[in-house]
Amino acid sequence: MPELGSQSSATNRERMYELMKVALGEAEADLAIVNGAIVNVYTGEVLTGDTVLIKGDKIAYVGKNANKSIASSTKLIDATGKTLIPGLIDGHTHIDHPYSISELLRYAIKGGTTTIITETSGIASPLGYQGIIQFLRAVKNQPIKVFITVPPMVTISPVTKQHAITANEVGNLLRRKEVIGLGESYWAQVIEGDQRILDLIAETIKAGKKVDGHSSGARDNKLQAYITPGISSCHEPVTVEEVIERLRLGLFVLIREGEIRRELEVISQIKDKNIDFRRLAVSTDGIGAWPLTTDGYMEFVVQKAINLGFNPILAIQMATINVAQHFAIDDFIGGIAPGKYADIVIIPNLRTIQAEYVISNGQVIARDGEVLVQPRKHTYPKSTQNSIHLPKNLEASDFAIRVVSGRSQVKVRVIDRVTELVTREALIDIPVSDGQLQPDTGKDILKVAAIERGYLAGKTFVGFIRGIGLKRGAIATSYAWDSCNIIVVGASDGDMAQAVNRIRELNGGIVVCAESKILAEISLPLGGISSTQPMETIARELHHIQQAATNLGCTSPDIRITLAVLTTPAIPFLRICEYGLVNLRQNSFVDLIVD
Ligand SMILES: [Fe+2]
Repeated sequence: MPELGSQSSATNRERMYELMKVALGEAEADLAIVNGAIVNVYTGEVLTGDTVLIKGDKIAYVGKNANKSIASSTKLIDATGKTLIPGLIDGHTHIDHPYSISELLRYAIKGGTTTIITETSGIASPLGYQGIIQFLRAVKNQPIKVFITVPPMVTISPVTKQHAITANEVGNLLRRKEVIGLGESYWAQVIEGDQRILDLIAETIKAGKKVDGHSSGARDNKLQAYITPGISSCHEPVTVEEVIERLRLGLFVLIREGEIRRELEVISQIKDKNIDFRRLAVSTDGIGAWPLTTDGYMEFVVQKAINLGFNPILAIQMATINVAQHFAIDDFIGGIAPGKYADIVIIPNLRTIQAEYVISNGQVIARDGEVLVQPRKHTYPKSTQNSIHLPKNLEASDFAIRVVSGRSQVKVRVIDRVTELVTREALIDIPVSDGQLQPDTGKDILKVAAIERGYLAGKTFVGFIRGIGLKRGAIATSYAWDSCNIIVVGASDGDMAQAVNRIRELNGGIVVCAESKILAEISLPLGGISSTQPMETIARELHHIQQAATNLGCTSPDIRITLAVLTTPAIPFLRICEYGLVNLRQNSFVDLIVD
């Protein structure tokens, strides 16, 4: 992103004067786009016969009296028969993993996304404030704009909580222009009155920035209570009714169409309602390597909205001006108008979101799917790539669950997988053998362990999980939401140890193994959550991991995500961390052994 406002006043004055001169026909434009139809996202019109004049990184003029500013040095793009739309904006996502930023930007650039607003909770859990600083360095001076939100770090892990970024650090971050607000804080913890989060919300409002929301499942009194401190948005509604309730309460609502959830089809019915859509948007809420390489990024989301029957202009507004207005950055992005950054995508027609030209900051950065300006590769310091601090290799005995009772079986609280994301509690009698509780693959009961890997490395809790399906082997991951944990599930203690030990060797990753053999793995050395490989390699390796897990009997369609969310307070309702099981309904730790 250009260094907004960082130039000297003299330079700023010169640039403003230059733009005005071009608009007046008294100076030459650098670039002119002629003969295209222009989507005006402010009025909802499509205007023809206008020329866009660009000087430097900004638009100087849009209209019919452009000829005086077009000279032999002006680069011309003839857009006859084509349509110009503003560069697309993803208003809520999580691109701090599992790829490096330059790999994600390659896909954003070629598809026509020119602004991304991302959470940074993934990098903050293992690396804290320094992780966010590194991420900010990685997104700086890239061909497109990336803004971040500061993660409030709502967590069930006492160790992660102890190392969460401080109010002071949040204050420092909020002073930066590329930090657009506070990231999603989960509603249940906010209405509990969590003092730290309320302080962060107050700090953000004081800084004049936005507080993003996350109100999945909340309604009526609880939803309104959640909004009162100043929550401004929500990307969690899953039905038309939930969207409308939030819009009526003044929330900015983002419909999700990404890796974890795809709600666009169900919510598309809202298009027939006679309501104001200015505060509605589309976003990905995280986009994985596989969908990126097969479908694309925001261009896929907008195209899908159009295919589902949204008016194409509305679909484009939902990925441009609506988002810019919400974040109060519409003074310089989100539309094709004088004074705005020249972020423009040329598409074949209004109904086909296929970028033929992508212009960002006045520069053609992609043409017909080919990236012309490569994103900058950031060199991360060694410390970023050394986040697995387990002091020693684990052994099978580290996963033993010993009981002192002389009984032949005990009742145990088991994490019961309901969907790919949601779990509930099941109370199940587990037999005792040699003084230990054993998994039972016949009943689909496996062991699951959470291992702190960064701050109190090695601190481990072992419990049980039902609904994963493994008949043998183990799967481990160092990517676990809102915590600095390794999560491992397995039918065998030995394989669980081996999977974790391999992650230790890799300095982070996801590993599938069985009978002491590694069957599939991906290395995630950046903070233990991101790969340094090309996107296509990441997609392939994650695919192999899923295949290897399925071959072992795994019934989750995406085991990486199923394991990763076991540590989050965002999704109901029995979760695990290094200190034990947490019942989110009670917001408290609960015992493994019930009687
Ligand atoms: Fe999110």
